[in-house]
Amino acid sequence: MEVVIVKDAKAGGELIAGAIVDLLARKPDALLGVATGSTPLPIYDALIAQVNAGAVDASKARICQLDEYVGLPAGHPESYRATVLRQVVEPLGLPETQFMGPDGSAEDVQAACDAYDEALASAGGVDLQILGIGTDGHIGFNEPCSSLASRTRIKTLIEQTRIDNARFFDNDIEQVPHHVITQGIGTILDARHLVLLATGEGKAEAVAQTVEGPISSLVPASALQLHRHATVVVDEAAASKL
Ligand code: GLP
Repeated sequence: MEVVIVKDAKAGGELIAGAIVDLLARKPDALLGVATGSTPLPIYDALIAQVNAGAVDASKARICQLDEYVGLPAGHPESYRATVLRQVVEPLGLPETQFMGPDGSAEDVQAACDAYDEALASAGGVDLQILGIGTDGHIGFNEPCSSLASRTRIKTLIEQTRIDNARFFDNDIEQVPHHVITQGIGTILDARHLVLLATGEGKAEAVAQTVEGPISSLVPASALQLHRHATVVVDEAAASKL
């Protein structure tokens, strides 16, 4: 695992956007896995700016989701599908046909999860997966005690994650879904390159356990230690407990 300490979130975003530009230069139709939450926004801002400045032709890039809420009405602005469309797919000018994600409104949720795992594999696998980290060390929505070999499946959110995400739902925890679909940890580890960005002091403990602690399902992000090409980019505050 490679750990890169940067000055701040903007520098982290620029560094990772640069890696994506390099990837697209080598492989124009690369499959880019994206995460939601506040942390990756500087990556997307920097990527869109670099693409608009002509750094690379991103028109063939393919985008895929890491996770999704279950049960939000179609088109809900806080569904991760709508969020990724708004933050990444549309600003890059990509058609929806180059964007894939699990169906959080499917009647048979497990069938939708299995279909998504198959779709990722038949798309050739994820080339670069961007990850954030929850305060409890979760990646995607793989809460503590998730199997490190897990595949895409339905999960129940713990209370702390619903509290953390209430800010996207008018600060009303009642509006935050209880259930989600997430790529499993095993699914995430299938990506060719994992890039985790963590910023701010609130992530310092989770980062320290991810990088320096034992590999444990209690800290799902510690599974990155098992991957042959994992990069953890942290700002000085998030690195403060390393
Ligand atoms: C959610 C997402 C994760 C993300 C986490 C942290 O739980 N499912 O992918 O990493 O939030 O979000 P933030 O970056 O806003 O702290």
